[in-house]
Amino acid sequence: IFISFGYLLFLQSFLVKSYKVDKGYIYRLIGGSFMLKDIARSVWSNAYAPYSKFKVGVAIKTIDGSIFSGVNVENAAYPEGTCAEAAAIAAMCATGQREIAEVYVIADCKEPVPPCGGCRQKLAEFSKPDVPVTMATISGKEKTTSVRDLLPGSFSNDFFTKI
Ligand code: THU
Repeated sequence: IFISFGYLLFLQSFLVKSYKVDKGYIYRLIGGSFMLKDIARSVWSNAYAPYSKFKVGVAIKTIDGSIFSGVNVENAAYPEGTCAEAAAIAAMCATGQREIAEVYVIADCKEPVPPCGGCRQKLAEFSKPDVPVTMATISGKEKTTSVRDLLPGSFSNDFFTKI
């Protein structure tokens, strides 16, 4: 057990380099999507939700394998609060990345937490329709859907052209 634990730590230090960039974290890693869940879960506890008491954590993987995380950040002026998805997307954009490959959203509720309407539109801006979105609960329930299924018939910049 000790040997395998040490080996895991060794592996992790090799595979995962975390860079602190501005207020977000970027994880560049080689490895499976299990990391997405771990990162969403670990940032979840840092959500700032003193008013709703409903913390949300998000991890987004981009097509180059980087992972960006975000949490909801509420405000005493209630409408100024922002969703976790928006925070992760902003962290992604700040590094110049524009294409989402996978999304993981987690909250402490009975059923896997669905992104709100506004966040579905925000995710669609940077995702192909078949990008998987996994919704999860802290207790371990998961449900995977796609950006297409979350927002069918969505508005996009395709509609800017007249012909
Ligand atoms: N929230 C998110 O961060 N993402 C969602 O997709 C659902 C809602 C946050 C916003 C607010 O801080 C709290 O959850 C309660 O609505």
